[in-house]
Amino acid sequence: MIRKMKWIEVNTYDEMSEVAAKIFLEQIQKKPNSVLGLATGGSPVGMYKELVARHQAGQVSFKDVQTFNLDEYVGLKRTSPASYWTFMHNNLFNDVNIKQENIHLPNGEAEDLAAECKAYDARIDAVEGIDLQLLGIGVNGHIGFNEPGTPFDSMTNIVELTTSTRTENAIYFDDEAEVPTHAITMGIQSIMKAKEIVLIAFGEKKLAAIQKLKSGHITEDFPASQLLKHPNVTIIYGGTN
Ligand code: F6R
Repeated sequence: MIRKMKWIEVNTYDEMSEVAAKIFLEQIQKKPNSVLGLATGGSPVGMYKELVARHQAGQVSFKDVQTFNLDEYVGLKRTSPASYWTFMHNNLFNDVNIKQENIHLPNGEAEDLAAECKAYDARIDAVEGIDLQLLGIGVNGHIGFNEPGTPFDSMTNIVELTTSTRTENAIYFDDEAEVPTHAITMGIQSIMKAKEIVLIAFGEKKLAAIQKLKSGHITEDFPASQLLKHPNVTIIYGGTN
């Protein structure tokens, strides 16, 4: 069944960040021990800044919040400057009162990666699932590192990164050759299990992806299209025209 997504068009990146932060803020105020699904990349940086500011203004506490990130590179030390673990600590965790034991990212250094994938989904199930999941979207419609062609029923798994994704992510590394070839990502089904989803996208580069999502056509060639089947998705977007 195709459900109705909520579309919020904004004029600026800062407005997108504020609108998204407000949804997260309200979630934490409503349920202080919320389980949040988080993303890395350029899209959420402003939202994380806003959450840090709200925390510093005494408006929100992360004391009982748990977080699960969508993805992490394989074979990169978590303390490496380009890891998603480092990104999250620099952009959010270091500046709020979250407990280290409540922070979860897939472990890309695990010896048994298949076991780590299973364990990650199990850890999410053990806290009764994600209350609110944040997503960005790739220009090709990827969510997490689920590239076009990923089965909709995928759970957390190891993926080989496409050349275009490695090129896009090279900005976080000294050299494109240093971008890992593989990553662990929550699967599309792991993402769909979240009770509520917020997807943020800003800028002309995201225009084609937003238009495709709006067209309402569901296909594994465009991973984000599966979100059309989720009962509670908000898309906050702008700068695409
Ligand atoms: C990040 C992630 C990716 C990004 C997407 C958009 O954890 O899972 O799917 O959300 O690549 O990236 P930005 O925001 O950098 O345009």
